[in-house]
Amino acid sequence: MELGVNIDHIATIRQARMTNEPEPIYAALLVQEALADGITVHLREDRRHIQDKDVYQIKEIIKIKLNLEMSLNKEIVEIAKDVKPNQATLVPEKRQEITTEGGLDVLKDLKRTKNVVSELKDKGIFVSLFIDPDNKQIDAAKNVNADAIEIHTGSYANAKTKNEQAKELNRIIDAAKYAKSLGLTVHAGHGLTYENVKPIAAIKEITELNIGHSIIAKSVFVGIKEAVRLMRQLIYEARWK
Ligand code: PXP
Repeated sequence: MELGVNIDHIATIRQARMTNEPEPIYAALLVQEALADGITVHLREDRRHIQDKDVYQIKEIIKIKLNLEMSLNKEIVEIAKDVKPNQATLVPEKRQEITTEGGLDVLKDLKRTKNVVSELKDKGIFVSLFIDPDNKQIDAAKNVNADAIEIHTGSYANAKTKNEQAKELNRIIDAAKYAKSLGLTVHAGHGLTYENVKPIAAIKEITELNIGHSIIAKSVFVGIKEAVRLMRQLIYEARWK
């Protein structure tokens, strides 16, 4: 199980003052030292946190995987083709949202998604689609030649009761099995925390988790290397149980 650490909110703190600290590249180096497998950043169209220069800097300096979360927006696609991250995760994006809300509707935007997947793959980028645990969307991801899907764990994370959470977990397990049976690589993420990560980390078909807010929140108190280490430990415990 690989852990990609999303460091967007390091940039959120910097942008709150439009200053030059804290720098995401510094966080990325510490996350790398803490033996995470990848750095994830979302270059949003409104540039509310990560800026273009951050993405270029991280790609140039970091040795571990760079996973660029991005919308299908033409300008962003051009930047991705220039940066050539190891992996691109296509996500839906709305300007008013606080964070990514739902999964990508690949079915609705089949042709456009297929074109973007193809443009990115032509540059040697491994392409993942962030979708809800829904077989129709998984079929569509396969149709547009994505390499991987990232299952949106938001509904699981936001479940209000144990029953609802168990139901959402089962949806994720079924989706992971189905996607793997089609030959897709399976990732998961969104809303995962130190409290809720273990049942997701235990799903053998899932090979990568992308976690941001919870790790950055903990790092305020314990430092980012310790925050990554603690998350890693929970993932290992869930995996090898
Ligand atoms: N995966 C995707 C596709 C996302 O958009 C995000 C949020 O940027 C994450 C994972 C990380 O979510 P969180 O910050 O809730 O851990």
